[in-house]
Amino acid sequence: MTEFILDGKPIPFLPGQTIGAALMSAGVTSWRTTRVEEMPRGMFCGIGICFDCLITVNGVPDQRACLTLAEEGADVHRS
Ligand code: FES
Repeated sequence: MTEFILDGKPIPFLPGQTIGAALMSAGVTSWRTTRVEEMPRGMFCGIGICFDCLITVNGVPDQRACLTLAEEGADVHRS
């Protein structure tokens, strides 16, 4: 099974699946909060337009989870 790591927890994914799709499939629906009111955010548009799905991947912040392909062993952190 292929997996990446979200904050220390393994998340399985299928070949060609984005990080956002894998998170949603694993039941993770939010992975950051808004700055002012700390409202939860995750996938919204799903096509790279809204930037609601920003996440840190392998130390690179502000990656769009809906466009970033999942990779085996990737180190992913909530923003
Ligand atoms: S969900 Fe809108 S940019 Fe990713």
